[in-house]
Amino acid sequence: MDGLFVGSSTQKQPKAGITLSTRQSSIVNRQSLIKESTGLMTNTQKLRHAVVGVGAGIFSLHKDALDQTPEAELVGVCDVNTQLGQLRADELGVPFYQQAQVMLADLKPDVTSIITPHPYHAQIAVDALTAGSHVIVEKPIAIHVGEADRMIAAAEANDRLLAVNFQHRYRPEVIAVRDLLQSGGLGKILRVTVVEPWVRTAAYFRNAGWRGTWRGEGGGVLMNQGPHGLDLICFLLGMPVRITAWTRTLQHAIETEDTITAMFEWGDGAIGTVYMSTVEAGQRRMEIAGTGGTLLLGERDITLERFQPDLLEHIATNPNPFGRPEQVTAALDIKTLDGPSGHAAVYRNLYAAALHGATLRCDGRQGRQSLELANAMIYSSHTNQTVDLPLDRVGYEALLTRLQK
Ligand SMILES: NC(=O)c1ccc[n+]([C@@H]2O[C@H](COP(=O)([O-])OP(=O)(O)OC[C@H]3O[C@@H](n4cnc5c(N)ncnc54)[C@H](O)[C@@H]3O)[C@@H](O)[C@H]2O)c1
Repeated sequence: MDGLFVGSSTQKQPKAGITLSTRQSSIVNRQSLIKESTGLMTNTQKLRHAVVGVGAGIFSLHKDALDQTPEAELVGVCDVNTQLGQLRADELGVPFYQQAQVMLADLKPDVTSIITPHPYHAQIAVDALTAGSHVIVEKPIAIHVGEADRMIAAAEANDRLLAVNFQHRYRPEVIAVRDLLQSGGLGKILRVTVVEPWVRTAAYFRNAGWRGTWRGEGGGVLMNQGPHGLDLICFLLGMPVRITAWTRTLQHAIETEDTITAMFEWGDGAIGTVYMSTVEAGQRRMEIAGTGGTLLLGERDITLERFQPDLLEHIATNPNPFGRPEQVTAALDIKTLDGPSGHAAVYRNLYAAALHGATLRCDGRQGRQSLELANAMIYSSHTNQTVDLPLDRVGYEALLTRLQK
């Protein structure tokens, strides 16, 4: 498929240990043995780490990730919610700041985690990168793709790393599917079907006023729950070239979409459909149909059926007008993760990249892809047209500005 397996980083990688003093650099050089494939490190070189948005619900997973990263030394936290932020800072035993810029200027952290609501990701990331910090930003990378462009430019201009927290890229079964596709194990890809129920209650939207609003998150299910599934589409199958979508608000009392359905087309003619909703319950799944077989990736399981022979040969040679190819259930080799999972895996990868030049599994350019798909679907639905990618940045920003009024 077009753009298939471009998962390796295209962001310019800063030189390993570039922020370190001569003495620190020599320590890194002496101890720079790492397993590139997993990002596992064997030294205890510390990088000074700060967190913006420490009051976030998701902070507990970032705290676990910091605890599992021996090279991370938490040096300060920030939140516009002074009470909650100060409480967390006291628990952590680090200084508290109300403004990210003040913290960046004061502490000059080597690494900054940004876990605020998405509309703040872009500006805080640009500030942190400009201040000389590597950045790990929660998904989605930003709320519109023009902002992501500016974040990527800031990372490149300042020779810093920008990692996006798409932890599903580390799931062993996802890696197994990627390996299968990369080896041509499903033949030529014909169709992709993604169904993602992400049921959320009214209480979920009541608990945080920014959710489900154009100003607060720039979209609904596409901007909050959907980014993981959209990222997996890009990680496994590459960027589509064309999208037609309907976004609808079927049940929730929110401004933005709670349900979407879309058609995707890839450059080599493969097609796909995507359905996502916060008002449907059930199992999330992705089905990939190729000429060599079909694969169903569920939340925890994989079903793989292989065709014998390949469908293209079967269609060309089988004399039976209604004949089906032989279908054999096959097992997929799912390797145990060599290192931590979830957020901690993303941290481990960023630290390996910062200290030892490892490749980021999801850099700014990779992290921008799912946002571009989400923006394109909203644009398609609101303008009632099929959208070609890359998305018209100016057109989308104008639409979003109108929706935010
Ligand atoms: N990777 C994942 O699986 C995952 C899961 C949940 C949330 N997230 C992402 O994490 C982010 C936070 O989500 P949440 O639900 O935990 O948010 P939340 O509403 O619980 O918390 C956000 C925090 O950011 C603070 N904040 C807001 N603006 C700020 C600013 N300008 N500077 C400093 N602090 C600021 C708020 O006071 C609050 O404490 C979102 O982008 C969300 O999409 C990712």
